[in-house]
Amino acid sequence: MTKLAIAGGEPELSRSEYKNWPVITADDRRFVNEVLDTGIVCGATAPQCKKLEEEWAHSVGAKYCLTTCSGTAALHMALAAAGVGPGDEVITSAFTFLASGSCALHQNAIPVFVDIDPKTYNIDPNKLEAAITERTKVIIPVHIQGLPADMDPILKIARKHKLFVLEDAAQAHGATYKGRNVGTFGDAAEFSLNALKNLCGGEGGLLVTNDEHILKKASLVRCFGDEIDEVSHRRKYNASILGYMYRNQELPAALARGQLMHLDYNNNIRIANANCLTRELGKIPGVIPPYCPPDSKHVYFMYNVRFDSKAAGVECEPRRFRIAVEKALYKEGLQVGQWQTMPVPTQDLFQSKLGYGATGYPWSVNEAKGIKYNYNVCQYPVAQMLCDTYTVVHGIHPPNGCALMKRIVGAFRKVFQNLDQALAHADDPVFPGMDSNLYGVA
Ligand SMILES: Cc1ncc(COP(=O)(O)O)c(C=O)c1O
Repeated sequence: MTKLAIAGGEPELSRSEYKNWPVITADDRRFVNEVLDTGIVCGATAPQCKKLEEEWAHSVGAKYCLTTCSGTAALHMALAAAGVGPGDEVITSAFTFLASGSCALHQNAIPVFVDIDPKTYNIDPNKLEAAITERTKVIIPVHIQGLPADMDPILKIARKHKLFVLEDAAQAHGATYKGRNVGTFGDAAEFSLNALKNLCGGEGGLLVTNDEHILKKASLVRCFGDEIDEVSHRRKYNASILGYMYRNQELPAALARGQLMHLDYNNNIRIANANCLTRELGKIPGVIPPYCPPDSKHVYFMYNVRFDSKAAGVECEPRRFRIAVEKALYKEGLQVGQWQTMPVPTQDLFQSKLGYGATGYPWSVNEAKGIKYNYNVCQYPVAQMLCDTYTVVHGIHPPNGCALMKRIVGAFRKVFQNLDQALAHADDPVFPGMDSNLYGVA
């Protein structure tokens, strides 16, 4: 009888079969060396930052780009540039990273979350309009895990209500919707350059827009709100608006430039790996691979699967089934585990609504007028269902390839052929998750 590793058998894979991300090339070294050779290591208009902005704008097909210290900063800069303020509401998806919602709080506005589509895990356009009020200013669709949000209906609703659209493309560099790059649909878009991302600078962010007004205002927000003298081009040290220190640096910008040269190639490997997994895992009853609509290019920042106990032919509550299978796969040597463990609005930050200095601000601005906000989980049933039943299969990034994908499929088959053993060990003290060194992060 085959013994699963969780039951004391031999693991199917070893850690050494996984290679780390990012893949460093001679182009990265060339640009990073340029920084070291020139000795210019910082400055909003320093050469690497400027070139990265030009190259990314060109790559996406946008007029303007600003680089910044994080994707989170880019989101905040965009909201500030769009004139969002206290009492305004900003709509985003319930299944995303915290920053898609907390950026509203950073601008003293109130985040409102909309549930997701059960197939794409992106914001459900059918539920969007019901969340719009006279206070809504911005919609932030998130291209989750590399799959574009359904932009046509989102833009139609946004136009009808005259709302600013800020694409959160932190996870979707190079993804396309109906043949066009994400980042070119809204009034502005944000990308992250964090080490894990498809385009990586270590840390950093990119804001793109075609709107000169947004560009100028976001650029002020990026650097203390400090005006630049039009004649001398020197800083006036006279802040005209509230700003922050959100500049990027030359070393991360240089690395991102080197990585950009290989973005398409690397994305194609992710796609090939994902297709390989989907083809084989989809044959295992109870495993639901990710869905990609035919008119979208998914760039697989992450590769999710969901588990369905009924389809697998076992009697088990869905969340418990996921936990049992996830633990068994992990013990087989797979890099698996959850990313978001709960819908973002169910995090304590939103449940407590303590806000700034535990004053209840900014919710208090509207609550004082009798408008109530609650982030009850029953408003996000699909996001909750997803969080109960999904896991991320890590390691689909290059230089990992088809050989590793086949080994991953082998481990899935082994576990699904021995589900009784997996279920018997569902309560074992095993803690699935990726080995953070896989992405070079602690
Ligand atoms: C969907 C999403 N939005 C925003 C961000 C924020 O990006 P950063 O970590 O660069 O601040 C992330 C980062 O993981 C993200 O996944």
